[in-house]
Amino acid sequence: MRDYIRTIVDFPHEGILFRDVTTLFADPRGFRMAVDRMLTPYLGGRIDKVAGLEARGFILGGAVAHQLGCGFVPIRKKGKLPAATISESYQLEYGEAVVEVHDDAIEPGETVLIVDDLLATGGTAEAGVRLMQRLGATILGCAFIVELPELGGRVKLETLGIDVRALCA
Ligand code: PRP
Ligand code: ADE
Repeated sequence: MRDYIRTIVDFPHEGILFRDVTTLFADPRGFRMAVDRMLTPYLGGRIDKVAGLEARGFILGGAVAHQLGCGFVPIRKKGKLPAATISESYQLEYGEAVVEVHDDAIEPGETVLIVDDLLATGGTAEAGVRLMQRLGATILGCAFIVELPELGGRVKLETLGIDVRALCA
């Protein structure tokens, strides 16, 4: 899996080694392998909705939701969603941001899988977890292609009782 992902030095800021998954997405075998491996633990019909984190979580989450036969919910950066939203702010490895979801995107009690390309500090995913929990979702897991264990994201999410799966580090 790692061979499909390239690293860009000093993007978007000096000192950041940016893991660029567009090379994986562009490769037919790589993309299929990533989607298939992400969804395999969730086969069997327990997921009601896949929630994808903007932006690369949309690409993966859409494919995963299609294969699982469930709905897809976009968790977007602030100001992009047209109807009523709830929001959460969070710290990034390189900045601060706000994410939002439509306040009617999830029915209370629905089971949700949160999907993104990469887990770094876990700030983005934790904000997604908080949004889903505020809507009454039961979160069955967070799934990523890559995790950067030294940045502590897994520990942050597991401390909240969230099951974390990543395809590579
Ligand atoms: C990246 C990545 C995750 C997030 C992970 O997105 O796709 O969403 O960072 O970092 P964290 O675990 O420290 O929160 P980015 O913020 O670069 O936004 P983008 O997808 O809009 O490019
Ligand atoms: N998001 C936060 N840190 C990142 C990294 N090193 N590569 C890609 N996306 C990221």
